[in-house]
Amino acid sequence: MSEHLTVVDHPLVQHKLTLMRDKGTSTAVFRQLLREITLLLAYEVTREMSLTTRHIETPMEEMDAPILAGKKLALVSILRAGNGMLDGVLELIPSARVGFVGLYRDEQTLEPVQYYFKAPEGLKDRLVIAVDPMLATGNSSAAAIDLLKQAGAADIRFLCLLAAPEGVARMKEAHPDVKIVTAALDRELNSKGYIMPGLGDAGDRMFGTK
Ligand code: URA
Repeated sequence: MSEHLTVVDHPLVQHKLTLMRDKGTSTAVFRQLLREITLLLAYEVTREMSLTTRHIETPMEEMDAPILAGKKLALVSILRAGNGMLDGVLELIPSARVGFVGLYRDEQTLEPVQYYFKAPEGLKDRLVIAVDPMLATGNSSAAAIDLLKQAGAADIRFLCLLAAPEGVARMKEAHPDVKIVTAALDRELNSKGYIMPGLGDAGDRMFGTK
């Protein structure tokens, strides 16, 4: 664990993650667990949100009470697996604005290419939380963060379920200012770019494809 990476070791997070890793877990249960675990991770990733005060009256007396400062946060799903994390964050922060980044890998150059980008306006004044369950090579995550920065984002966090050391290193090199929050840091990537021990293909498991 470092300034750059937070592994959330809360027992509920670890318990739910084990159920998600288990290959016998059904699509429906996998999706439900991802929603629940994301809600718990969202609590951690929003820990440093800034507060101001509002003058209110309780039934007893007046007070200056803490309240979130600034514009609503922007939640950005990195397609397609990121979509499985939207509901969990939105349950905690229903007023968040939502954006989407779609990237595919060019077979010739092996570079990520953008096929979709839609972000809330005023990104530069918002806390931006990019979500993607699997931080594997880190190439598409780093490219997605590049696009968000080009669109003006200046205060970005990356929220994932599982991270590989290779992906964390790639992100740290490309975007040292972007803090990462995850439920676990796994051992390594295999030769096909899958996280080991991992949980398989997160998109396929949550959408029942393949
Ligand atoms: N994407 C996945 O869905 N799973 C992995 O293990 C790596 C990338």
